[in-house]
Amino acid sequence: MSKQSNKSSQADNITMSGGGVYSLATAGAKDVIDHATPIVLAAISELNRPVGHWSFSDMGCADGGTSLDLWRSAVSAIRNQSEADIQITYADQPRNDFNALVQILHGLTDFDSYLQQHSNVHVLESGSSFYDPILPSNSLDLGFSATAMHWLSQKPCDIPDHVHMVGASGEVLSQYQAQAQKDWETILLHRARELKPGGKLVFANFCKDEQGRYLGNTDGENMFDWFNSLWCEFRDNGAITADEYAAMTLPQYYNTVEEFSLPFTDKQSKVSRAGLTLDHIETGIIKCPYARDFQSHGDARKFAKEYVPTIRSWNESIYFGGLSSDRPVEERKEIIHNFYSTYESRVADNPEGHAMDYVHAYTTISKT
Ligand SMILES: C[S@@+](CC[C@H](N)C(=O)[O-])C[C@H]1O[C@@H](n2cnc3c(N)ncnc32)[C@H](O)[C@@H]1O
Repeated sequence: MSKQSNKSSQADNITMSGGGVYSLATAGAKDVIDHATPIVLAAISELNRPVGHWSFSDMGCADGGTSLDLWRSAVSAIRNQSEADIQITYADQPRNDFNALVQILHGLTDFDSYLQQHSNVHVLESGSSFYDPILPSNSLDLGFSATAMHWLSQKPCDIPDHVHMVGASGEVLSQYQAQAQKDWETILLHRARELKPGGKLVFANFCKDEQGRYLGNTDGENMFDWFNSLWCEFRDNGAITADEYAAMTLPQYYNTVEEFSLPFTDKQSKVSRAGLTLDHIETGIIKCPYARDFQSHGDARKFAKEYVPTIRSWNESIYFGGLSSDRPVEERKEIIHNFYSTYESRVADNPEGHAMDYVHAYTTISKT
């Protein structure tokens, strides 16, 4: 019997902005999914599946807005050949804004859902983490996930002099590496159990690419160094305490291609023995849409106003969670407000080089 884990230490603080704001603020994440769409369609066309209904999952789906076009394309491709039932399970951790997800999928917002366009398409919402079983064994044709699996199941330790593992070294970095390897194996083993024989996984995961590039660190300013230096400034001017500085450590890890490939190259690994093989992995960069627009409109204030909210949509909850609960909530909110306004004004004053380019590993995996 498999039991759901209770890893509240990590899940407590990871939430994207709610009420559909996540998808509205993250045009870049949608660009990543659009880039992955042909890979998903190719994987669907290669599925070696028995008759019966189609079963897909979208793990770490947030409010579902960014993947609507992906699933619209997948459903259309299947409908060209078959009227069979299609089930899509949207899964995210329990603190996700599932109300926003349901409303977006069921057409109660300005997002254009695909559900109304097709019959016999069944969407289910699951609050099970990808570190746990989500679906029954041998039931899944294709599992998808974008920009989600860099969130670790738990924070191995605080990073004393940075907010992210990209700035960690030595023993601290080793602890993050070990946690990430264990987590990647856990994710794969659960999916190996869920997949039907011949089923596939397509993941677009954040990574550190062959040239050492990663999210927000491609050819200009290093976004994570900015987060860190501003947070240091807040500590040094007394706005936050040293403990609060240290507690703001993002529980994330960016694997390299070698690290993603390790469970597959080792033929004796649990993952290989569970029947998973790596079909393909390649890295790719999606340019920051806000920095791209700035090149044409040239308005630094407009750029800063659009750029900082996209960052805020995914890391505000971790900054907020790092602040002492002894502070009244209003005071914590004010610190967070000041943090992002300071960031915004620094970007507006000196915009050159700021960009959150997305660096991903696009990966296709099969169950033999
Ligand atoms: C940046 S959002 C990506 C959303 C969407 N897939 C996209 O690409 O636009 C990351 C999502 O991963 C989710 N997440 C983080 N840890 C998770 C876990 N252990 N299990 C499931 N989802 C998780 C977060 O709640 C969040 O919704």
